[in-house]
This record gives sequence, C-alpha cells and structure tokens, in this order.
Amino acid sequence: MKKLLKSLLCAVLLTTLLVGCGNQTNQGVTKVAVIQLVDHTSLNTIKKAFDEQMQALGYKEGENVEYIFANANGDNNTASSIVQDFKGKSPDVVVAIATPVAQASAPLAKDMPVVFAAVTDPITAKLTTTLEKPDKNITGTSDEVQVDKILERALEIDPDMKTLGVIYNKGETNSVTNIQKAKDFALKHNIKIEEVTITSLNEAQSAINVLTQKCDAVFSPNDNTVASAMNVVATACKKAKIPFYVGADSMVQDGGFLSVGITYDDLGKETANMVDQVLKGTDVSNIPVKVFKDNLKIFVNEKTMKELGIELPKNIQDDEALIIMK
Ligand code: TRP
Repeated sequence: MKKLLKSLLCAVLLTTLLVGCGNQTNQGVTKVAVIQLVDHTSLNTIKKAFDEQMQALGYKEGENVEYIFANANGDNNTASSIVQDFKGKSPDVVVAIATPVAQASAPLAKDMPVVFAAVTDPITAKLTTTLEKPDKNITGTSDEVQVDKILERALEIDPDMKTLGVIYNKGETNSVTNIQKAKDFALKHNIKIEEVTITSLNEAQSAINVLTQKCDAVFSPNDNTVASAMNVVATACKKAKIPFYVGADSMVQDGGFLSVGITYDDLGKETANMVDQVLKGTDVSNIPVKVFKDNLKIFVNEKTMKELGIELPKNIQDDEALIIMK
C-alpha cells in the first residue's frame, strides 16, 4: 500500500513538472503571442491574412494553438507593457506587426524567437545586421517602399510639379529612410521639398494645412501615424485639389490618390509561413528576411481622381499593373 502511494505521488509530481515546463509539451498546444502597433487598414489586412494562413497550415485555435493578441494603439508605453506581459507568458514565438512594436519586442529575442511583419527597413531598425542571415533571433517580412516609382508617376501626371510636401512621423524609422529617398529624388529633379512631421493623430490637421497652402503635391511613405489619420489628411488634400501620393495600397483605399507597391495580403500570409518554420524548429538564422518588392501594382483611387479632376496619362492607363480602386 505504501509503495502504491509512493508511486502515485511520484506520478503526480512528474505530471506537474511536465505540464509546468515548456509550452509545446503542454498537451501539444503552441503559444503564439502577437503584437500589432495600431488599428489601420493595412495592419488589419496583414493580421487577417496571417490568421487565415495559420489556420490553413493547421494551427487551430483552442485545439493546438493559443494566441495572445494585443494592440498597442499606437502608443510606445503601451507597447512596452505588452512586451513585458509577453515575457511572463513565455510564448513559443512572438509576432510583431509594424516597425515600432518589432523594435519594442526585440529584447524578447534573448529568450524566444521574434518574427516581424511589414518592417520596411529591418537593418536601420536594428532588428538584424543582415537580411540573409538574421543574427539576433529575429526575422520576418519587409515591405520596401517604391519611392522613386511613386514620384516618377507624380511627375508624369504633373510635369510642372515644383514643390512637393512630405508628411510623416520622425519617430518611425521606416519613414525616415523613405523620406530621404524622396529628398534625393527631388534634388535630382529640381523639386523643392516642404516637410512637416507629426507625432500623433492630433497633429495631423494643422500639419497638412501647412502643406496644402504651398505645395503642388503631397507625399507620405507608409507611415503608421499618417495611415491612421487618412480621413483627415486625405480629405484636406482633396479639398485643396492637391494629389496625395502614398506609400501603400491601403492609403489609396482610405482616400489617397496614387501608390505603387505590393499587396499586403501576400506579406501577411508569408509571415505565417515563417512562423510555421520557426515553430517546426528551423533556426531563425536560417530563415532570411523576405523583402516584398516584386509584383508591383499601381493603385489609384477613382473617387479621389475624379474629385481632383485628374486624367491619367496614357502610359499609366495602359499599364497592366494598374488597379483602379472604387
Ligand atoms: N511598413 C510599416 C512599418 O514598418 C508598417 C506598414 C505596413 C504600414 N503597411 C502599412 C504603414 C501601410 C502605413 C501604411 O512600420
């Protein structure tokens, strides 16, 4: 009897130990922690495509995967506390959607792999030293912005464009890189740049008012703060009859005039494929960052175009890559 009791005790102890350590051993349930910077059309698209692809890969919520999801609502302090919370929960992988939250999640990579989605410039953001061989236990997908291609279209539409306004958040590494590209382009084409920066939604209205007073056109890269303020910024540009060139399809959808770029569904899907690889044990250093820069489309918002009274030049009209958004 004593012996039986002893082995029973042992069994209980062993089970407790097993359940307590490691997550995948925990009844085969994988823990995936996801942090999204803010609710804007593009990041929501990425998250949705990611979720769907995870499902397709066989990760079923409530069966073999547990998601911990948090939205930082565009706030860095909120992002830090979310990351702190993730740390305590020891997920098998952390997924970070957009640059600022990928940067906030970077310290977690000491203990767990981090996969980012849509980080425009992972090297300047200090997430890895090289794209080919990630060296910080962090990898993911990147969305290169086609600044030259966008501004070339702008010049085709208005060859007399003399002053180009740029609006962005200086705190977003992803935008700083692209604004520099816009400045280089402007210099080459004898265009004057007028610059305004914003740090939050509240500043959008007064910032855009400054630009619409003195510019022939306005450009924003795929800046998360501007993308969250499209109803203000795009509306002001339309009112002033100024074309607003933007760094992402979603910003065209949300009232911007034209963009050249990728389709973010593909990027969200690929992020899930990378997470799957990590969960199956591939070392992060063997999963190169995937840069999305092929299969580019020209996105034009039809309503905005009509309000601006612009007619697209023939070469753009005839371009097979043209997508008119209704
Ligand atoms: N690339 C942005 C970043 O690095 C995130 C992003 C994805 C984005 N899609 C966008 C920003 C569309 C603005 C608009 O943070």
